[in-house]
Amino acid sequence: MTSYRQLQQVLDARPTSDGDGVKIRRIAGRSVNELIDPFLLLDEIHSEDGADYIGGFPPHPHRGFETITYMLDGAMRHRDHLGNEGVISAGDVQWMTAGRGVIHSELPEQADGLLHGFQLWLNLPASEKMKSAAYQEYANAQIPVIELPQGGRVKVIAGEVPGDGEPVSGPVNTGATRALYLDLELAAGSRWELPVREDQTVLLLVFQGATTELSEGQMGIYADGDRLAVTAGADGARALLLAGSPLREPIRQYGPFVMNTVEEIEQALKDYSEGRLVA
Ligand code: FE2
Repeated sequence: MTSYRQLQQVLDARPTSDGDGVKIRRIAGRSVNELIDPFLLLDEIHSEDGADYIGGFPPHPHRGFETITYMLDGAMRHRDHLGNEGVISAGDVQWMTAGRGVIHSELPEQADGLLHGFQLWLNLPASEKMKSAAYQEYANAQIPVIELPQGGRVKVIAGEVPGDGEPVSGPVNTGATRALYLDLELAAGSRWELPVREDQTVLLLVFQGATTELSEGQMGIYADGDRLAVTAGADGARALLLAGSPLREPIRQYGPFVMNTVEEIEQALKDYSEGRLVA
């Protein structure tokens, strides 16, 4: 029997800054770790004023998780210690697996004008935290889109969505977290449904317009069930739908390092200071 997921909790994105003074709206923190497991953080940059983002994110390390950057407007240039370099612009996705270590920079490729994008942190299970770093980049044209009968569309960045015939798969397939990452554009008043795994965390961040339950800047967390229904408000809705299998492991975070124990964090700091993080 179909069991629809009910909205369980609503989180508000909070204004903060990171990197070299980049103004962002963030959902993260110890208080939400368990609620959004396997996700750790979701940041949104949205500004037309270069002063809000020009400093970007100069070279910095990561260990123990994945960062996924998705641009809607404007462009960012990424460079990492592996020699990967690329500019991602409107609609493009960069999926970076830090594993045992990455040192990279993320800098705006523009001094002014609209910059709008998201960075999601997806945790790795203990068994994968020290695997080799990896980098994937997908241009907008490589990412499948499902047009909805009532208007609107679903862009499948990661995971799989049932289509009219064959399921539609995004370019990224994750391991243990089996993450689903969708960009939804729903027409005014339209209802959209999706089967979801019963054992997964399901999150919806509305970033434009509203649903009947969530307004712009809010993330909904949905309780158990095998189906999700979302109804757009009178002005339609743009939202990120995220789902993933919770890891249910201890989380120890120190800045850009996310491990399971304090000892592993100390090791990451030591490795970084001795130049062995990415060795
Ligand atoms: Fe980073």
